[in-house]
Amino acid sequence: LTNLAAEPAARHWHPVARSVDLSPGARVRTVLLGDRVIAWRDPGGEPRASGPDGGMLRLRDAYGLVWANLVPGEAEPPEYPAYADARYQHALCGPYGVRTSAPRIIENFLDMGHFPFVHDGILGERPRTEVADYKVHAPRLGHGPAASECVFWQPGASMLKHAGARVFYAYDVPRPFCAVLAKQPDAEGGQGVAILLAVQPALPERSIAWMVFSTTNLEPDEKTLRARQEQVFMQDKPILENQLPGRLPLGTRDEVAVPCDRLSLAYRRYLDQQRIGFGVIQA
Ligand SMILES: [Fe+2]
Repeated sequence: LTNLAAEPAARHWHPVARSVDLSPGARVRTVLLGDRVIAWRDPGGEPRASGPDGGMLRLRDAYGLVWANLVPGEAEPPEYPAYADARYQHALCGPYGVRTSAPRIIENFLDMGHFPFVHDGILGERPRTEVADYKVHAPRLGHGPAASECVFWQPGASMLKHAGARVFYAYDVPRPFCAVLAKQPDAEGGQGVAILLAVQPALPERSIAWMVFSTTNLEPDEKTLRARQEQVFMQDKPILENQLPGRLPLGTRDEVAVPCDRLSLAYRRYLDQQRIGFGVIQA
């Protein structure tokens, strides 16, 4: 059992359900940080949930998800600027159950190096496997690291483009188990894409991944887009489930640092600085 009072991750907001699934009369049962959570919506439309010991939790609807906070800490769920941008439409993807820790899923999401190997023909293409150097920005005030000027070669970089192209990315880690990717629209005014990956830490090595896929062009339609995201995630899932140990090691002494791992190392350092204990092997 997790000692919630001592676990910094308990003070953060985590997704526990889709907002639409909390219809009046429905009860959603799930697990968050090792504890059972039961969520419902009261007659006034407000989400409610009981947690450990039957105590009531704080809940919020945001980005099509219901977020829960076990130990009163931060004020609101993490910011996701694309959701407030009127040019973007959104498709909620998941939930994807994965037999690994939440930080393993975030770290994999931050790693461009795996694109041509795991998502060959979709997010990358062999032999163009090189990860060019990029800028890493240090964590600040509880907010995790960010990366900018990330460039990667992608085949058919969007639904609108059928030829391969260099794609420009930026990553942000607003919370230990949340990450945001922004794909810059190119000079020809191509598709702008943002993705919020929010991982629900259920058990130390059992997680539920939720994704808000936002785009300036929901082509050809939401259903196709969701199926494509699911195809990509299902390529990651067996890789994630075979990474050992399942808990992310925060001691980096034994690891060989190469330039393309700098964001991963910054992420591990951030978890260490935040004293996160859930889903990690502490340094
Ligand atoms: Fe991937």
